[in-house]
Amino acid sequence: MSRIDTLLAKMTLREKLGQLNMVASGYAVTGPLLGGDSPDAIRSGDIGNLLNMVGPDHVNEVQRIAVEESRLGIPLLLGFDIIHGHKTAFPVPLAEAAMFDPVAWARTARVAAVEAWNDGVALTFAPMLDVSRDFRWGRIVESAGEDPWLNQQMATAKIKGFQGSDLSTVGSLAATAKHFCAYSAVLAGREYASVDVSERALHEVYLPPFEAAVQAGVAAVMPAFTCFDGIPMTVHEPLLKDYLRGKLGFDGVIISDYNAVAELLNHGVAADLAEAAALAIRAGVDIDMVSNAYRNHLPEALARGLVTMDEIDACVRRVLMLKERLGLFDAPYRRGAAPLAALAGNIDHHEVARDAARKSCVLLTNYNGALPLAPHERIALIGPLAEAQADMRGPWGGASVAEDSITVLKGLSEAVGSVSHAAGVSIDGNDTSGIAAAVEVARGADTIVLCLGESAPMSGEAASRAHPELPGKQRELAEAILALNKKVIVVLFAGRPLAVPWLFPKASAVLMAWFPGEQAGPALADLLTGKVSPSGRLPVSWPNAVGQAPLFYSQYPSGRPFNPNDHYTSKYIDAPNAPDFPFGHGLTYGEFALSKLAVSKPVFGPTDTLEVTVTVTNTGKAKAEETVFLFTHDLVASVSRPLIELKGFSRITLDPGSSGTVTIALPAQDLTFHGKDLKPVLEAGDFEIKIGSSARRSQMLNAKVTLKL
Ligand code: BGC
Repeated sequence: MSRIDTLLAKMTLREKLGQLNMVASGYAVTGPLLGGDSPDAIRSGDIGNLLNMVGPDHVNEVQRIAVEESRLGIPLLLGFDIIHGHKTAFPVPLAEAAMFDPVAWARTARVAAVEAWNDGVALTFAPMLDVSRDFRWGRIVESAGEDPWLNQQMATAKIKGFQGSDLSTVGSLAATAKHFCAYSAVLAGREYASVDVSERALHEVYLPPFEAAVQAGVAAVMPAFTCFDGIPMTVHEPLLKDYLRGKLGFDGVIISDYNAVAELLNHGVAADLAEAAALAIRAGVDIDMVSNAYRNHLPEALARGLVTMDEIDACVRRVLMLKERLGLFDAPYRRGAAPLAALAGNIDHHEVARDAARKSCVLLTNYNGALPLAPHERIALIGPLAEAQADMRGPWGGASVAEDSITVLKGLSEAVGSVSHAAGVSIDGNDTSGIAAAVEVARGADTIVLCLGESAPMSGEAASRAHPELPGKQRELAEAILALNKKVIVVLFAGRPLAVPWLFPKASAVLMAWFPGEQAGPALADLLTGKVSPSGRLPVSWPNAVGQAPLFYSQYPSGRPFNPNDHYTSKYIDAPNAPDFPFGHGLTYGEFALSKLAVSKPVFGPTDTLEVTVTVTNTGKAKAEETVFLFTHDLVASVSRPLIELKGFSRITLDPGSSGTVTIALPAQDLTFHGKDLKPVLEAGDFEIKIGSSARRSQMLNAKVTLKL
């Protein structure tokens, strides 16, 4: 008999339910080990999993109680939200998406995994794979943005980075693909609201990243809090059982979201906690995060015939399997046992953070070469984010500490010598009394670097905004500074794109820094001074108006396409259709021209892979990196297809005046879509291959190819 069969045969119902129970320790970094009766409950086998406990001493102590003092000695599984770094805070996920760099995505995940390993953690609740098209929703910051294909690439890279080749190897961290699924489509962008998307959007937009995660071997999946098409995801049998477990063959652990089992009562699908627990078990949710519904109410559910022992055993088996795969039975104390500096390849974690921060900032505008700053310029650093420290990390700080973050003031002062400084206003609030002094400071400078944006808690969970603009009195500050008619470089910090159309024509340059992580100051100094050219690209379309939400490039055609001269065409009467900046936009200190688009096979078959090549020339004056995007358009199909869909990207670094060739592979199978019957289909016919440096359709190179079946 396998270890797991042997254990299952010995376990009492109470011990089984303990393995399905995850409680919060409440002390992520320091403080008492566990509240209340938790040590006793670990001893009695009532708690098999913990979240929010880090630090090898703490972890080993609770692990010791589980392994040495509980009847069966089953080790605990410790989970933590390692969203963008553990001790070293990397840029927030939306910023990382802007790197368009799978190697860098995997690298930061690997470093986080190693740090988490050192801290005794075995499981992270990441990556979040909710394709996010509504910038009102605060959790857009945790996503890879609006595009399903991009989210798939990020899923694969992150899972590879976290989990390594095998969960039992040193430094590996089990990953959780969350929140399954379509949480990001909450009604009107309002957190925790219900979701109602079409079957087609479900299959073509929201599910593909989870499919990629399962293919990458993700250890766990977390259903969303939300109610999808009338059924809360925590009990959504068609999606959890038939699709995830059945069609995709996912045999890992499903962990409920925080208290989601108890919240089934609020959703009105369970009359009591016994019913709620039974419904979740029957949908295949293995671990109940913090609601205690499994622990306290499954015995009653069994007695009432709402659930069977076999269904409970199947969940227990999957949890034990994960513990086994993580090597917890064989070496329960190994996480945190020894310093593992060498594990991530002896690399300096701060350097990884600095590199990621530099790569993730997106230069939105740069008029007349305003950036990079020239060495002789006298600089005033103004704005409430200039000296912000904790905010640089963004939401979900992991086990990082605010004091480790380097402010823009510090980073820039060290790079250019002294800079004058005034905050002017705070991030939020109505106090304008500091504006006059800030204007005076600005008056004495040649160039003003204006640091504006959101505070970290303004995005993330429970941070939907109906007004995703500059909060507080920051616009007043900005307008007072801009009125000086000097060179004003705006650095924006936020967990989402902000609707600030008034800013772009007035500022000399705007650099979107998102929340760049602990190395904010040095990384921004590198970019502002031109030590490094910006290379980040928008993973989301940048809104002109809040009313454009949800906003994404991959629109379906309209029977009445936009025509400014025809009233009865698809448009707003008070705002443009177009975003202020398209998906993929991002300037560099170079300038690039694309030419000579070539496709390897103009007529191809279903098993072919096309090679799409294009010549890239740096026509500018500085060395820089260009990102080239490959989009396709199915011209005529059995169902209407989006005007463009991302299918690939590639990056190339070029010296001024030099050219290079970029090749992007396009497997014919990637042209598959969901037909009228919502089954995947590859249809013969003509496709447009489109190459561009963003999703702006008017600036693409086009080639037509034909698929013959
Ligand atoms: C969030 C999850 C997170 C969990 C545990 C919930 O509120 O929705 O994303 O993993 O808390 O912290």
